[in-house]
Amino acid sequence: MDPLDTFISHYKPLVENRLENAVTQLEAPESLKNSMLYSLQAGGKRIRPLLLFATLKAFGYKPEMGVDTAAAIEMIHTYSLIHDDLPSMDDDDLRRGKPTNHKVYGEATAILAGDALLTLAFKMVGSIDPETADANVKLALINTLSKAAGAEGMVGGQVADMEGEGEKLTLKELEYIHINKTGRLLAYSVLAGAEIAQANQSVKDKLSQFAHHIGLAFQIRDDILDLEGTEEQIGKPIGSDTENEKNTYPSLLSLEGAKKALTEHISQAKQALSTTGLDTTLLEQITDLIGLRNS
Ligand code: IPE
Ligand code: IPE
Ligand code: MG
Ligand code: MG
Ligand code: MG
Repeated sequence: MDPLDTFISHYKPLVENRLENAVTQLEAPESLKNSMLYSLQAGGKRIRPLLLFATLKAFGYKPEMGVDTAAAIEMIHTYSLIHDDLPSMDDDDLRRGKPTNHKVYGEATAILAGDALLTLAFKMVGSIDPETADANVKLALINTLSKAAGAEGMVGGQVADMEGEGEKLTLKELEYIHINKTGRLLAYSVLAGAEIAQANQSVKDKLSQFAHHIGLAFQIRDDILDLEGTEEQIGKPIGSDTENEKNTYPSLLSLEGAKKALTEHISQAKQALSTTGLDTTLLEQITDLIGLRNS
């Protein structure tokens, strides 16, 4: 098996088990827990957890040290998808190859399951074992997670995405949306690894450059797949962006222009990675996967 496949088959179950245990243990209404588990277990790629694990590995640290933070990121990502699919947002009926959360549990429970996942994420980071992260590291992880996920990050990007519907945005405005709605949580996955490994500022800056480019690349590929993918491959409806008159890289730059921008960001990501002095083999492979992914 290729090293990335081996890595994925080993570390994906690690975060998936953590997610299942964290929700199953909650003393909460069964309907709420079922709704949370339904979306968590619908089969995402877990690219963010894998980025965190691969970053720890690049520093020579055990990926296991990132499992609570990885679960937290995946909870916030999953909540963002549940809310993104709501009728008041993108109004989509299919996610991860299954009916969307609100289609199964109703809108109110879907909203509340999202709220509960967001809140639980912070408890996950708060309860990391002190040998893995001391109080200062934990505090930094919590503060930066709040920034990446909230108004100055993902939520801010989602608002700009929504307000841009039907408007003709500039490339700079679209870049703001992509960096925030998608890039910030992906970037956090890398930077959280650097934080746990207590990297120096210079390495963090280089990884931050890397993360910026993969974040943008990831959403550009998502935009392209909304046009070129199949429902079976991506597990969500095709043409959702066109239907919602979204600004996307293909809508601004043409499909060909979007593909060129994607290639450019992938190459800049790898360039940034090569300056870190770390063992970045897995991170490079994940970068290629982001550029080429079909799901
Ligand atoms: C989809 O994210 C939403 C975006 C931010 C583009 P993913 O493509 O990572 O979705 P899953 O987790 O694999 O379902
Ligand atoms: C995703 O943007 C952003 C977040 C969920 C934060 P999209 O709306 O393009 O994601 P998909 O295509 O529905 O997964
Ligand atoms: Mg959206
Ligand atoms: Mg959407
Ligand atoms: Mg999309």
